[in-house]
Amino acid sequence: MAHIVVNTKKSKGTVNKNIYGQFAEHLGRCIYEGVFVKEEEGIPNVNGMRTDVVNALKNIKVPVIRWPGGCFADTYHWMDGIGPAEKRKKIVNTNWGGVTEDNSFGTHEFLELCRQVGADPYICGNVGSGTVQEMSDWVEYCNMGGVSPMADLRRQNGHEEPWNVKYWGIGNENWGCGGNMTPEYYADECKRYSTFVRNYDNDHPVYKIACGANADDLNWAKVVAEKAGQFVDALSLHYYTVTGPDWVNKNKATEFSKSDYFETVKKTLRLGEIMDENIAVLKRASKDDHQLKLIVDEWGNWFQVEPGTNPGFLYQQNTIRDAVVAGLNLNMFNDRCDTVVMANIAQMINVLQAMILTDGPKMILTPTYHVYDLFKDHMDARHVESYAETEDLKDGDYEIPSLSVSSSEKEGKLCITVVNTDPDKEADIDIIVGGVKVSGAAARTVAGDLTAHNTFDKPDTVSIREIAAEVTDGGAGIKVKLPASSVTSIIATEM
Ligand code: AHR
Repeated sequence: MAHIVVNTKKSKGTVNKNIYGQFAEHLGRCIYEGVFVKEEEGIPNVNGMRTDVVNALKNIKVPVIRWPGGCFADTYHWMDGIGPAEKRKKIVNTNWGGVTEDNSFGTHEFLELCRQVGADPYICGNVGSGTVQEMSDWVEYCNMGGVSPMADLRRQNGHEEPWNVKYWGIGNENWGCGGNMTPEYYADECKRYSTFVRNYDNDHPVYKIACGANADDLNWAKVVAEKAGQFVDALSLHYYTVTGPDWVNKNKATEFSKSDYFETVKKTLRLGEIMDENIAVLKRASKDDHQLKLIVDEWGNWFQVEPGTNPGFLYQQNTIRDAVVAGLNLNMFNDRCDTVVMANIAQMINVLQAMILTDGPKMILTPTYHVYDLFKDHMDARHVESYAETEDLKDGDYEIPSLSVSSSEKEGKLCITVVNTDPDKEADIDIIVGGVKVSGAAARTVAGDLTAHNTFDKPDTVSIREIAAEVTDGGAGIKVKLPASSVTSIIATEM
């Protein structure tokens, strides 16, 4: 029997709903086919947005979507994507497969997608190959309510009211695909760009996100935070779980060994340490009245592409191993909610660790999607302290903790999410609840063999199922048996 302690008297604040954010890039079949379809494809849609996909995203209450990239963002010139679709410039997507990008999905279409899903837009500007004027104009186009050249152009293109886009990224991975800059050079650019990312409505101030570190490149984070920190609200952090001997021989998504799994869990948990190191850098660089926040706007498993698919499209399957990784990361973000205010999994559809996979008119929900469904009660809830008494599991060189947990409370309900990383054994858990008593508990889980996944022929191999949860000790405890390799949410009603 293992113990989990939930102490409702201690909290790190509110779990920002944006921790459950998504990332959608012009990459492979994420936007085109995944979200946006043309009439001739015959797939039910509203204004081009797939109805099945939009409904699935609404169900998990996607709070924010980052767009248009990624590496694509630093090659994207937003004016190519406005005005009559047939007149839009066709360009080459040089980062992803060298395919033709016809710009039929542009600013209006992205903001229409956000409207349909009910998500906030997060637009990443082009610092690598764009201009300050171009980014400044983009903000004016989206946010200016009165008369101005860009507001007038927006109206001419059919949108009267401003969208009031709050989140603006000042470039993407400018240490790499976004221009291979030094941190000093980027910090100067970031200051210049941020200066001209203006507020057009004091009731809707913009929120600026500087390009932060690639994983544990703390020098990048330090230089940018110190030199440009006062001009932005947050720094980003990118961290992918990449396993295998080297980049070319990365792990496959559905065929892997137990030792590959242990390596995946171990490398995923490294993000917790990296976030803490980045947070420490941001705290040191922040001035008292301006605390810089951390936004993990790209994270997830990066495996080999599915055999026979375009290597530039990054299309991979998604198994129970991905569910475990999603659960571990989301628990780590929740427990750092005083500083981590947004996270965007890469990516929303058909790319990397996706929520949804599509094949023509067919759509499947991945194990990762089901984890987002289980965790949605954490959004905007009051974080409460929780920890697990774990044993370490060993496989060869890798040692991993057997359990991970995070908890929150909202409207008289406690939400406790637990990952049992043990691929072989169920876990009998005694949850000790402090600070409140509970009168009832219900548990739902995503579990299965590590390689279990959904296919277009068998879309429900992995889905959410209920498991027993029993209130004990007159409301001071909950007993639950977690299946092997599972992610579980326990919702308890407070007395
Ligand atoms: O998500 C795929 C790519 O990974 C993004 O375009 C880039 O920012 C990162 O390197």
